[in-house]
Amino acid sequence: MTELAPQEYPRRIMTFMRRSSAFTVSQQKGIDEYGEYYFLEPQHQVFDPQTVFGRVAPLTVEVGFGMGFSLIDMALAAPERDFIGIEIHPNGLAQICFEAGERQLTNLRVMDGDALLMLENYFSNNSIDTVQLYFADPWPKKKHHKRRFVQTHNMQLIRQKLKVGGVFHAATDWEHYAHWMLEILEQSEGFKNLTGKEQFAPRPDYRPLTKFEVRGHNLGHGVWDVLFTKEA
Ligand SMILES: C[S@@+](CC[C@H](N)C(=O)[O-])C[C@H]1O[C@@H](n2cnc3c(N)ncnc32)[C@H](O)[C@@H]1O
Repeated sequence: MTELAPQEYPRRIMTFMRRSSAFTVSQQKGIDEYGEYYFLEPQHQVFDPQTVFGRVAPLTVEVGFGMGFSLIDMALAAPERDFIGIEIHPNGLAQICFEAGERQLTNLRVMDGDALLMLENYFSNNSIDTVQLYFADPWPKKKHHKRRFVQTHNMQLIRQKLKVGGVFHAATDWEHYAHWMLEILEQSEGFKNLTGKEQFAPRPDYRPLTKFEVRGHNLGHGVWDVLFTKEA
């Protein structure tokens, strides 16, 4: 059978497996006490920064924040920016609400669902300053490569939602996925590599260590960052 090139895969292939375990006490508190404040309910609405954050500030959207510790660190370190994290993992969603609530963070909200659907339906075109994707599921088996988040059609969705000059930032500890990302993004219309053609970026100092990055280090993996900007 002929293998399809990545850009020929149809949309709506799940990039994740839904898994969850019993909530810890903190996670339950995250939902019960802080969930109402932090969860965005996107039904029949389009993101309006004034309504959600009460201001217009540079916006970062993170796809797949996991347990959310690094996103919390970023939101704490950059109070002048607003952050929206999208996850489908219930424990991670509950944990980030707990961490954010205990710190009374006001520049962060979360969405429960497939980031591809949320990006497509909730965000206006040209509305996001940064989309970040850290240590996304690498789907190492060849037959699963179609589940990788970085695909040509998904990058065009992200391009549509980014402002001109906005940035897509991805990092991975999986070498094959790193080269896959670089190749797709280099060939993606409307994107320019901020580091130089076909170059990986040095790790930016604003990106905190993530849980899966630490796991990668412990397994002896390297780390690769890519930073691409949306051209006019
Ligand atoms: C390998 S984990 C990495 C988590 C975190 N970024 C880190 O570095 O520790 C990937 C996460 O992405 C989430 N994910 C994958 N595809 C997603 C999608 N389409 N929408 C929302 N979350 C997604 C998964 O649920 C999982 O929690």
